Amino acid sequence: MNWAKMRKREGTAVPSLVTHFLEKKNTIGVSQAEERVIGDVAYTVNGAASDTTISATGSFLYFMAVNHGIQKKAQSEIDRVGRNRLPDFSDRPTMPYLEAIYREVLRCRQPLDMSLLHCLTEFDHYKGYFMPKGTIVLGNIWAMTHDEKSYPKPFAFKPERFFDKHGDLNGLTSR
Ligand code: HEM
Repeated sequence: MNWAKMRKREGTAVPSLVTHFLEKKNTIGVSQAEERVIGDVAYTVNGAASDTTISATGSFLYFMAVNHGIQKKAQSEIDRVGRNRLPDFSDRPTMPYLEAIYREVLRCRQPLDMSLLHCLTEFDHYKGYFMPKGTIVLGNIWAMTHDEKSYPKPFAFKPERFFDKHGDLNGLTSR
């Protein structure tokens, strides 16, 4: 919030959730509580979205650089959409190989190894463990995405693992 205020004063701010809010503040006025909420929302979105997106994009670029065959196959799928335009979200169902790459990037190099902290709102049992209300639980994402039963040779980058024997995308997702 302070950073956006400073950039606005300097005239170097790019439009964002916070600058829109600050413009409203100048025209219609806002409460301190509202300002705190917008600051919290901006903090959450920035924290949740920046490292994860940069990490996934970096992993994608790395895997494409070291797997030329896979990169070529993906490129030909993009070229099929039309050389004069980039794909958009409406093309997604017709681009299964890219979908499989997307899943494999997030599986092989999940940007978060452990999930966020979750807190039990009531007691529970799991595999013989009693967990009282208030227990902090973390999902071991790394273990799930590298489970050999679901993903044989889990350290290999293989988008093909997401296709069934008919060549259709299977139900295994990296989510
Ligand atoms: C490749 C990109 C991303 C990955 C891999 C990713 C991954 C995750 C994971 C694993 C969690 C924890 C889930 C849990 O423990 O229950 C999470 C939570 C969250 N993510 Fe992302 N995320 C990505 C992008 C984004 C973006 C772009 C936004 C917002 C613009 C975002 C907003 C959030 C928020 C707000 C939470 C917390 C949800 C809650 O409180 O339950 N994430 N994300």
